[in-house]
Amino acid sequence: MFPFSLPGLMNAIRPALLLLVLTVLPGCGGQPDYSQGEAIVKANCKVCHAQGINGAPVLGNHKMWGPRADQGIEVLVKHATEGFGLMPARGGRPQLTDEEIREAIRYMLSLVQPEDSPE
Ligand code: HEC
Repeated sequence: MFPFSLPGLMNAIRPALLLLVLTVLPGCGGQPDYSQGEAIVKANCKVCHAQGINGAPVLGNHKMWGPRADQGIEVLVKHATEGFGLMPARGGRPQLTDEEIREAIRYMLSLVQPEDSPE
């Protein structure tokens, strides 16, 4: 009997192919990648930040974000993780990591300023 069947070979190299696609795709384009932050915001933050519930700064609203963005991302991340006024700590999702909160805020800032580095 022939020891290598074609489906068997495909199964064997599939993980390698998948890994190749996953490592090559995000490298395309050279644009900063906000897709992770966008997904986090959609799932956890939009409920307040889309409409401005309780005075939450509305996504993409330059006036509302201006003075907040001026604080710099470190302060924003601190406020969002620890809670700030009516902003609940981590948007009320304790399972979100510091890194995920940071990605979410990077995405929020990308909507109101072209650069990723708030001064
Ligand atoms: C329950 C509603 C609610 C949810 C959910 C929520 N926010 Fe907020 N957020 C607010 C409110 C209200 C404010 C304004 C707080 C203030 O200025 O008193 C705010 C303010 C902020 C600010 C500005 C803080 C500053 O220093 O000015 C950031 C950044 C922020 N939220 C990030 C997030 C992120 C990231 C998430 C999702 C993980 C999130 N928020 C989810 C209500 C919410």
